[in-house]
Amino acid sequence: MTITAIKGINDILPNAVGKWQLVESVARRIFTNFGFQEIRIPILEKTELFARSIGESTDIVEKEMYTFPDRNGQLLTLRPEATASVVRAFIQHRLHLQPSMRKFYTIGPMFRHERPQKGRYRQFHQINVEVFAIDDPMVDAEVIYLLLVFLEELNIPDITLHLNSMGCPDCRQPFRQSLTSYLDSVSAKLCSDCQRRRSTNPLRIFDCKVESCRQLVAKAPVLMDHLCDDCVDNFQSVKDHLDSLGVSYTIDPHMVRGLDYYNRTTFEAITPHLGAQNAVGGGGRYDGLMKTLGGPDLPATGFAIGMERLILLLDEQTDVETGPNRLFVACLGEEAQRRGFGLVQELRLRDLFVEMDYESRSLKAQMRRADKLSVTHVLILGEDELARGAATLRNMETSTQEEIPLEGLTEQILSRLKLSDQELT
Ligand code: HAM
Repeated sequence: MTITAIKGINDILPNAVGKWQLVESVARRIFTNFGFQEIRIPILEKTELFARSIGESTDIVEKEMYTFPDRNGQLLTLRPEATASVVRAFIQHRLHLQPSMRKFYTIGPMFRHERPQKGRYRQFHQINVEVFAIDDPMVDAEVIYLLLVFLEELNIPDITLHLNSMGCPDCRQPFRQSLTSYLDSVSAKLCSDCQRRRSTNPLRIFDCKVESCRQLVAKAPVLMDHLCDDCVDNFQSVKDHLDSLGVSYTIDPHMVRGLDYYNRTTFEAITPHLGAQNAVGGGGRYDGLMKTLGGPDLPATGFAIGMERLILLLDEQTDVETGPNRLFVACLGEEAQRRGFGLVQELRLRDLFVEMDYESRSLKAQMRRADKLSVTHVLILGEDELARGAATLRNMETSTQEEIPLEGLTEQILSRLKLSDQELT
């Protein structure tokens, strides 16, 4: 029996990789302009890191983590998100002592054991952004603005920005009481998970996917109506900064993010084009996490974008650059094959895309392959040409060709292809 990949864990084949590279390069360019530095963190971490940061009673920690003991019996987890690891790394390497390091981004795979469907996978990729140690609503606005600028640069259509405030411990505590009394009054109608959440973490009920719970939740009190004065002012200030940047948004008091660490402003970028998996990205402030994980008491905010969802939304027509000039060397006969082989390597070392056929096939077959590779030029090395001390360079875009001498062939090719590079741009 053949071995296939694990359900919900997909290959990204070469014909799709161009879009991934495009997304990554746009992210690197824009994030760098916004002052972010790349950090690379491990895929595997100690389980307690995620349990303590994401929250014991979240779906992610309760049901979705890939957790296993290693050979020494230590409990490890394939990271379900990147924030906890970036915070851990920041603490571990005492980066708070280096004021030049406040803004980080990281790109890579995450793992959640969810039911796979379009836009939802068990291995998926995130572009993740975090800002530490800056407690100003301007930074919340800037991070949100960055998310939108990035999506706009990729021409992702019809994005709406949803905003909510998760308050602070001062306003969450009284709110929790009012929510719990409401839930007590409807407890008989709650699903068994929510029955349990009612006492452990009632806010998580807003996250329940069971239809009857969703209907009850629609009538539940919301935190937005219970914010303390400071949180109201802070949220207003974030909105003012967004207004000044020309960002429009929808206030969504029912939006709770699937992770427990948030406080104050949270947000999601929502698309109407992906069915149930409508969040392309989301994030928010999480001022208490650094301290919870044993680090200094520093504020933080950030977001993550789901790359698979982004790629699904990328315009089919999005042109993925194949590089400028591309050459195929078609060889006819043993001597031509031998010389062509050396020439191909030489040109590659001069930074050109060059490919050849290794199977001594007919010119027609080789031209077909050249066509499939979308090359801009084909160099034909035939027996007759060799006898004349020449080769034929065919421009596939203009369908013209010229004979060039074998003497100084490499330089001749490079000068012609570089010249038509300039013509192309
Ligand atoms: P999250 O909302 O859990 O946030 O994930 C962010 C994005 O990852 C989602 O909006 C979605 O696009 C994508 N995503 C999540 N799960 C899946 C899945 N199973 N398949 C495909 N895509 C998925 C976080 O992870 C936070 N760490 C974000 C953050 C950073 N908050 C502050 N800093």
